[in-house]
Amino acid sequence: MKKSFPGLALILLSGLPAFSQLKVVNLRCENLTDPQSIDVASPDLSWELNSPKKNTLQSAYEIRVKGSSIAAWNSGKILSAQSVHVPYKGADLASGEKYSWQVRVWDNQGSSSPWSEAATLQMGLLHLSDWKAQWIEPGYQEDSVMRPSPMFRKTFNTGKKIASATAFITSHGLYEGFINGKKIGNSFLTPGWTSYNKRLQYQEYDVTNLIAPGSNAIGVALGSGWYRGYLAWQEHHNIYGKTLALLFQLQIKYTDGTSEIISSGNSWKCTTSAIRYSEIYHGETYDARMELPGWSSPKFDDSKWDSVEVKNYDNSILTATQNEPVTRHERFVPVKIITTPKGETVLDFGQNMVGFVQVKASGKAGDSIVLYHAEVLDKKGNFYTENLRFAKQRNIFILSGRGTETFEPHFSFQGFRYVKIEGITGDPKPENFTAYALYSDMRPTGSFSSNDPLINQLQHNIQWGQKGNFLDVPTDCPQRDERLGWTGDAQAFSRTATYNFAANNFFDKWLKDLAADQFSDGSVPHVIPDALGPGNGGSAGWSDAATIIPWNMYLAYGDKRVLETQYESMKKWIGFMQSRSSGNLWNKGSHFGDWLFYRPDDDNDGRSAITDKYMIAQCFYAHSVQLMINTSTVLGKKEDAGMYTALLKEIKEAYRKEYLTPNGRLVSSSQTAYVLALNFDMLPEELRKAAADRLVANIEDYNNHLTTGFLGTPYLCPVLTRFGHNDVAYTLLMQKTYPSWLYPVTMGATTIWERWDGQKPDSTFQTPAMNSFNHYAYGAIGDWLYRSVAGLDTYADQPGYKHSMIKPHPGNALNEVNAVYKTNYGTLSAHWKKDSANFYLDVEIPCNTTATVFIPAASSDTVKEISETKNKSSLLKFSAAEDGYIKAELGSGKYRFNAALK
Ligand code: BGC
Repeated sequence: MKKSFPGLALILLSGLPAFSQLKVVNLRCENLTDPQSIDVASPDLSWELNSPKKNTLQSAYEIRVKGSSIAAWNSGKILSAQSVHVPYKGADLASGEKYSWQVRVWDNQGSSSPWSEAATLQMGLLHLSDWKAQWIEPGYQEDSVMRPSPMFRKTFNTGKKIASATAFITSHGLYEGFINGKKIGNSFLTPGWTSYNKRLQYQEYDVTNLIAPGSNAIGVALGSGWYRGYLAWQEHHNIYGKTLALLFQLQIKYTDGTSEIISSGNSWKCTTSAIRYSEIYHGETYDARMELPGWSSPKFDDSKWDSVEVKNYDNSILTATQNEPVTRHERFVPVKIITTPKGETVLDFGQNMVGFVQVKASGKAGDSIVLYHAEVLDKKGNFYTENLRFAKQRNIFILSGRGTETFEPHFSFQGFRYVKIEGITGDPKPENFTAYALYSDMRPTGSFSSNDPLINQLQHNIQWGQKGNFLDVPTDCPQRDERLGWTGDAQAFSRTATYNFAANNFFDKWLKDLAADQFSDGSVPHVIPDALGPGNGGSAGWSDAATIIPWNMYLAYGDKRVLETQYESMKKWIGFMQSRSSGNLWNKGSHFGDWLFYRPDDDNDGRSAITDKYMIAQCFYAHSVQLMINTSTVLGKKEDAGMYTALLKEIKEAYRKEYLTPNGRLVSSSQTAYVLALNFDMLPEELRKAAADRLVANIEDYNNHLTTGFLGTPYLCPVLTRFGHNDVAYTLLMQKTYPSWLYPVTMGATTIWERWDGQKPDSTFQTPAMNSFNHYAYGAIGDWLYRSVAGLDTYADQPGYKHSMIKPHPGNALNEVNAVYKTNYGTLSAHWKKDSANFYLDVEIPCNTTATVFIPAASSDTVKEISETKNKSSLLKFSAAEDGYIKAELGSGKYRFNAALK
């Protein structure tokens, strides 16, 4: 029996339930949830809307921000659709102060939300004069060979009730801090890696819960890390300085309104720790016999400790931490314990990763346990470390003999899947070995899956390549004696990176180091932070990180500030290329070229896919200038836009004159040559189709294999799709023999390899001189998977997915694809399936955004929007078919389409 509820109908009509259904969630300040150290005057605020209704757009918002006692800002109701990157406009935010903030919104459907839950933001130290701490260094003579880690210590008393306690810490070298025996924060490898002599990040921690009433103690240990450890192959160390130093400031506020600062200075004591040796490449030696139990507790007797030396370093280079700290993530136990043919005992963790192994062991004082780390086993199944070159990746733990002891390295990390162990008595037990992955704690934002397990493994490998190489800076590889922020690798992978994780703060921070380290002539160092020095820069496709990455960040996140901040650096890089060109032809200098392109051992018939390096340089010159035009246009710099537009025309003319025949053949006939020419619009319109056909012919000539290196690979499939050869792009994607993306997958790879044939089909290896099994560059195919295969893209004039383009490109090889991407507005997704007769597409469009959805179909009559036809609330309008798609302009919500394929 049906009942009617007149009262309910009334409520429905009055719109009241809608009031409670529109919600504001996921508040972020400077792209972070409850950030700890903000040092911009006008932090940027973002939030997401949640509504069960379709087509929801924000029409107004109100923000309120509160300090500990007073309101800092009440924006009032602002009529605006902006819900991301809204600048704070209240009273000046005070140094070190913590604020809470909330948002409520109104939408285009007459609903309003309640106030969101409160989020917090904590300000950093905004003025140089806020720093009361002094830099301290060990007062003892250091053992200059082993350079054991120093420890610093200080006791203090709190007489009154504490309202809050905040610690500000940084160091020369890496630090690990404790208060009363408890670790401060949960980060590793702090203060991270920046161009230390120009920009040094400090971290800020809320330590209220660590402080006890009465007596307290602070303890901090330091390690050589990137500051003075070996870096950039075996020969360099002490790149930033020789001596480790600490800067520590604790600000305590009492409930009676008074406050106190405890800071590093000459009253601190120091000695050496049980960490006898520590190097990023070589690992750590920890001698538990030398532990000083309770060293960071108040009662500890430090009378035998040394005094410290106070130093006067320049604090104007201090900057608050902008990016996510490195934290501990996945945990692994060995999947197998192997005895190799050589008799080695090896743990297999099943995943190539970056981090460390924690060991539990017991034994006699002085017994040592040694852990060696490797990525692969060789053809015979033995432990293989030759590709680590000079890096030892060895941790030595010396037992104290005091029962069961737990060890892990403090100031080192290893790249490994396999761990060889020595010194364990009896059979090793898997539960005594736990591997932890370490990486920058970026918000995971993307997933991509399909009906093909090999493709899913490829995506897994791309994500693990990113995890392993996003360790505070984007590195080429995480295991050998390199681990540097190679600019070429970073630019090639940057767009893919934005799909998998929120990479904006990570790259914004690194780009500031790029600008800081840029040479005075505008050339950009090969690696950032620059560990190689003058003369190591200016390579095409590497230095273009200066223009490519800011633009990619802008597209993905819609924040103009990265363009503003990097603008001068971008201009300087263009200036460098101009200065090295004659008649706008950039044909000077040394270049890495299409690094690691296909180069068969037997090249008798000239099959090596060589691309002229200066031709590549000219393409990237044009590309960077195009991005400069885009950037100056976005920033309203009309004069610059005009100047760069004229320059681009000349660059392309110079290219055509030098490298293109009248019939459209290029000087190098490689895949990379055609890919770059097509991707960067180097060719006149009328020659493009023929060039794309030549590219396809070339691929067929290599028996449907790619031959591209670092520079051509990212654009290969996008170019094929763009020029109507999506089927060929799929053929390359699905190719299982070398060179291809799936070849390493068929060989059991769990990360992306540096080389297409790092391990050959007969299980022998490529040259150990350069053969990393965790190098993300070729993972740049991830961009095409998300953007073309699944079809999740943004329009450049409404970047950051304010207006999305959802345009799947199905191919014969896959029947089902599902990609979910958490944009700044919320979840954007596309899930498609197909059978012989139908194409099914489910999409989700976040609130406060719109999307143009392209559905593969021959005509609009064959497409149905299933959910809409059910509730008949609004009928969608489809465009007429064009290029095999019909289009629908949609607002937020979930939609399901069904299109007849024939
Ligand atoms: C790195 C690369 C880098 C290259 C430059 C290598 O040693 O591992 O990934 O881009 O050098 O040529």
